[in-house]
Amino acid sequence: MPDLSHLRADFPILHQQVSGHPLVYLDSAASSQKPRQVIDALVRYYERDNANVHRGLHELSNRATAQFEAVRTQVARFLGAESPDEIIFTRGTTEGVNLIAQVWANHFLRAGDVILTTGMEHHSNLVPWQIAASRCGAVVKYVPVLDDGTLDLDAMQALMAEGDVKLLSCVHVSNSLGTINPVADICAWARARGIVTLVDGAQSVGHMPVDVRAIGADFYVFSGHKLCAPTGIGVLYGRRQLLATLPPWHGGGEMIDSVTLEGSTFKDAPARFEAGTPDIAGVIGLGAAMDYLETIGIDIIHQHGRELIHATMEKLSEVRGLRVLGPPLPAERATLAAFTIDGTHPHDLVEYANTKGIALRGGHHCTQPLMRRFQVPGTSRASFYFYNTHQEVDRLVEVLHQAVKFFS
Ligand SMILES: Cc1ncc(COP(=O)(O)O)c(C=O)c1O
Repeated sequence: MPDLSHLRADFPILHQQVSGHPLVYLDSAASSQKPRQVIDALVRYYERDNANVHRGLHELSNRATAQFEAVRTQVARFLGAESPDEIIFTRGTTEGVNLIAQVWANHFLRAGDVILTTGMEHHSNLVPWQIAASRCGAVVKYVPVLDDGTLDLDAMQALMAEGDVKLLSCVHVSNSLGTINPVADICAWARARGIVTLVDGAQSVGHMPVDVRAIGADFYVFSGHKLCAPTGIGVLYGRRQLLATLPPWHGGGEMIDSVTLEGSTFKDAPARFEAGTPDIAGVIGLGAAMDYLETIGIDIIHQHGRELIHATMEKLSEVRGLRVLGPPLPAERATLAAFTIDGTHPHDLVEYANTKGIALRGGHHCTQPLMRRFQVPGTSRASFYFYNTHQEVDRLVEVLHQAVKFFS
């Protein structure tokens, strides 16, 4: 087990008391904490280099532009993309999905076409497709989720074989189940049928090695704030050949080649999809976060997460009336556990945990159809990152035992 506890010193926020107890932050699937290195990068940028990118010829603008574009190259390398031109900066996963759901779907989708997604998607990879489909009379179909929290892959292939599927969008790691979907297989099946693919990497990038070319996704999206970067910055990876077929999304500064009163021509990707002043500080923060993660090593972070979730699953099984949703051990799981406890509402449990200094998340986790599928109003979720420790897992389990007594 890699001991990463020394890294906690990099996270000022973790060293505080909540409700008179040391904070145990177990809500990283919602948003991760930020190390001093990322906070310092933001301060440095605003204190030394702040200026708008791309349009200035002065020193500060040149510096800001160089840093901004260096992060694009860094992200391309981090994701195994072929070129930095395949990296579009967005506000996050949600915006990345919406961009494709609007631009791609407006351009290519016709009445009767099918968008295939799954029953375990976050609303941000579900609602945009419903909106896109309703605009043109297309249909959204959903791959069912099995009782063990995995996708019904036979049903998925059967749905693909029906012939009308134009795009498949699927989550890499479920934020409500911890399921790790076999996205490389899924993308290969889709590709063989000429189906365009989008993978939602909100819970995978920064937690496990992700190589978009090995996965074979046409589009891959994630949010920086879940991997130690600031909120408000995210990435849409798009395969170059596909991006070249897409019209622009937002119109405005920076995405044009030339503008006349009669009409405009547009730059190629990525500029074509980045109208207006971007979140420059956010991009620089994302670069600092990726530097930080790479210094630790994504493989080490992944291994640490696996060991932490295995210990958590084993210990949770000792809590009376507790049921974890998603794949049981020894299946591979992501570093989160969402659970119910008989007779206790998730919100009450999360509030109780808060009185003991533990930050959990309770509710439907933006996956209402999945909650209906498992016939629960919601769950309580503990989600971990590399700064969490085995002692924190023990503290969680201790408080859950107390909660069971308290609520019974
Ligand atoms: C699987 C998944 N997809 C999409 C999102 C949406 O991410 P964001 O709100 O950063 O756009 C989340 C956020 O929790 C998520 O877990």
